[in-house]
Amino acid sequence: MAMKLILIVVGLACCITGVISGGSEIHSAFSYLENDFVAAKASSSTPQPLMVALTLIQGAASKGAVCLDGTLPGYHLHRGFGSGANSWVIQLEGGGWCNTIRSCVFRKTTRRGSSDRMEKQIPFTGILSNKAEENPDFFNWNRVKVRYCDGASFSGDGEDTGANLQFRGQKIWLAAMKELMSKGMQNADQALLSGCSAGGLASIIHCDEFRGLFPKSTKVKCLSDAGFFLDATDVSGGRTLRNLFGGVVKLQEVQKNLPASCLSKLDPTSCFFPQNLISHVTTPLFILNAAYDAWQLQASLAPPSADPHGAWNSCKSNHANCNSSQIQFLQDFRNQMLNALDGFSLSSQTGLYINSCFAHCQSERQDTWFGDDSPLIKNKPIAIAVGDWYFDRQVVKAIDCAYPCDKTCHNLVFNDDVSTPVGSQPTSDGIFSTVDPQSSSDDTTATMVFSYSPRLTLTPLYMLAAYFLVAFMFLLQKGDPLFVLVPSSLQAVPPTKH
Ligand SMILES: *[C@@H]1O[C@H](CO)[C@@H](O)[C@H](O)[C@H]1NC(C)=O
Repeated sequence: MAMKLILIVVGLACCITGVISGGSEIHSAFSYLENDFVAAKASSSTPQPLMVALTLIQGAASKGAVCLDGTLPGYHLHRGFGSGANSWVIQLEGGGWCNTIRSCVFRKTTRRGSSDRMEKQIPFTGILSNKAEENPDFFNWNRVKVRYCDGASFSGDGEDTGANLQFRGQKIWLAAMKELMSKGMQNADQALLSGCSAGGLASIIHCDEFRGLFPKSTKVKCLSDAGFFLDATDVSGGRTLRNLFGGVVKLQEVQKNLPASCLSKLDPTSCFFPQNLISHVTTPLFILNAAYDAWQLQASLAPPSADPHGAWNSCKSNHANCNSSQIQFLQDFRNQMLNALDGFSLSSQTGLYINSCFAHCQSERQDTWFGDDSPLIKNKPIAIAVGDWYFDRQVVKAIDCAYPCDKTCHNLVFNDDVSTPVGSQPTSDGIFSTVDPQSSSDDTTATMVFSYSPRLTLTPLYMLAAYFLVAFMFLLQKGDPLFVLVPSSLQAVPPTKH
């Protein structure tokens, strides 16, 4: 009893000091919020988003197509209507990767690794919206979100029996496509495979396979949103993302499902990078990406492992805080991205939209996809650019001028001000998390959370709860904080320690 009391007191103390001292740091590690739109748009026009129920793929288990923990994979389908009844847009969900046994074992306890933990329904916004005023070209199509629960961009194929882990991304992809074909996609006259972040990478990897599902008469194209992960050097000269991808590819045996034409020239890890994959994709592909991709800045360029003293924290939390040398580093990153897209942009069938924003996943959020003040390049919002390209109305190779010229961005920033209530309604979050493989002694995680709606999802109360849980787990683990727990609207990410 006395022991428990001490634990609770110490827990509270940790919690309070955590808030005071490490508050901003812990907070920044978990929340990525959007600044300008919060107050402005929350209360006004936004109608209730369409909620669509989860369907599990019943036949999947017999084909070995299961989530990390062996549960059935799933998807959300909302039927098309009218002129869109035979058109299909598929969105592959994103959400980081797992690159070690440890991180995958943790992941299978989350909705990113188990359908037992998935939301039973999710909002359909942006490219999945069923309203013409929110989604002018695809609103009446059959719209599908395929849930991500394998941890390797729907591309692994293996298992670890010792750790009870199934790495069946490729099989999940195939089972989902087979299921959707049987639900009417076999009659599609138009189809678009899209995806964001880890799902945006998956949409590149699977683009030609998707094309192959349909007869030649079907119009088939692919859209990769925020999936253009560069094989870049981080702020300390290391290769954070390459190390992460290397772990994913090796552990989950991804090389089995990468293009042979790439593998004959490059190592498997290189062939998991979009810059080396896109020349092997023959189906028309659209690359949508922010030039200063907020996730890549956070987790690939300046993760804590590459920036142990936190010199980039302020710049990472808000681009307005970056000094001239940091901006220069980011301009170099943008130049690398544009160079990597040089050949791609020359093809007549490809589409390109690289806006100079600090954003991530702009097609699934309503405010960035299409709205009164959505981001523009040469007056064109993303939804119109993608539609123009898909329907061959116009050639779209939109490359923004360099920062800070674009005043239409919806930049993601950390909310450093814990004391100000910024929103009240927890909504379904788009979450991108990764485990940093470079941190050997120091367990480092990078998680990025943002809200689908312009409303913010984190209240101070939530943050307090998070701090308390972290502190409590810390105690339970006796100095080995195995897990970082956050409220259910947030993602929890395990550390890697090998
Ligand atoms: C910018 O900030 C970084 C990190 O704090 C620092 O190392 C660098 O010297 C600064 N550069 C300028 C030009 O102030």
